[in-house]
Amino acid sequence: MRIIAQGSANWLAGRPIVVSFEVTDSCTCYCRHCDHGGPKDDSRNLRPEEYRRYTETLKPCVVQVSGGEPLLRDDLPEVVRHIKRSDGLPYILLVSSWSLMTVERYLELREAGVDQFNVSLDFPDARHDEFRMYPGLFAHLSDVVPKCAAYGYDDIVLNTCITAANVAEINAVADKAREWGVNICISAYSARRTGCRELFPGTPELLEILHRELDRLESRRDDSNWIVSAPTTIEATRRYFETGGAPGCKAGLRFLVVTADGKLQPCSMQFHRYELHEQARMVREFTAHNRCDECYVAIRSNLDKTFPQLLRENVARYLSFSNSSKPGARRSAAAAGGC
Ligand SMILES: C[S@@+](CC[C@H](N)C(=O)[O-])C[C@H]1O[C@@H](n2cnc3c(N)ncnc32)[C@H](O)[C@@H]1O
Ligand code: SF4
Ligand code: SF4
Repeated sequence: MRIIAQGSANWLAGRPIVVSFEVTDSCTCYCRHCDHGGPKDDSRNLRPEEYRRYTETLKPCVVQVSGGEPLLRDDLPEVVRHIKRSDGLPYILLVSSWSLMTVERYLELREAGVDQFNVSLDFPDARHDEFRMYPGLFAHLSDVVPKCAAYGYDDIVLNTCITAANVAEINAVADKAREWGVNICISAYSARRTGCRELFPGTPELLEILHRELDRLESRRDDSNWIVSAPTTIEATRRYFETGGAPGCKAGLRFLVVTADGKLQPCSMQFHRYELHEQARMVREFTAHNRCDECYVAIRSNLDKTFPQLLRENVARYLSFSNSSKPGARRSAAAAGGC
């Protein structure tokens, strides 16, 4: 309920609901769908204590800690502690490939204040290693995800970014989520990062597979909310792939990115950079004129809705979590995204 209260205040004040901190540009992988692969210059990264100023100024109710690969930072628990305020907000999601996750780090990060762990999984088997160019990644996940899930905190969500390469695997990845005792969230590929149109599932054949897979996924919903993506988000994802775009983006206003060196950007694929005190200027100069419709990533899809719809979905989900039979189930719909 505190998330909803803070979200309402931000909505009215024109501040972002969700802020994504890209805490490093470096990565352990070289994924086919992404432009972040490999090592980068980390010399200008924000220090852990500098993050406090960002959460105090922007007052987000949800924060994504992302990258690059955030687990490359040994001081990540300290970063998380500085993002978390004493009232428990913001709700913090860690978005990661888990290539460097261990049970010890999972427990330490929970203790530091991470509320939800979003683990990227593109395939239900070793094709994941090929797609991410990281040998052994799937075997590592098969070991560490169930071990962490066995603690019963119900705070792990598999993030599956739908591409032409894995569109037929959505339910097979969902099966893995069930087998490992975790949840699933879908997201949509954008060609804007790499310029690669081949990975966009827009042909009639691939769209037919997409609809079949999403119909089946929808039929597997139950009141435990293990399918974290809202039905409205799944519908809008279908439309995005069918039409090739999703207009009405509010990047910079409802959500924004803080780069590793501390600049504000409307999103991870628009490189207009502003200082921390310039969010209102970003809204005036970028958001007010933005016609870009080139992605429907989760951070967007969860915030494109009208205020009553967002509120309705969050309250409904909160109430159904209260009824949920799963231990510790307290994820919020606004927090569900993570890409
Ligand atoms: C950029 S990564 C950063 C965090 C971490 N390295 C990871 O892979 O989870 C965050 C999410 O973006 C997704 N992603 C990467 N490239 C994308 C693209 N072109 N379109 C949509 N999502 C993409 C990834 O699959 C991942 O779930
Ligand atoms: S999707 Fe994540 S793991 Fe893959 S290259 Fe991009 S940042 Fe790295
Ligand atoms: S649609 Fe919005 S979030 Fe997506 S790339 Fe364009 S400006 Fe960024």
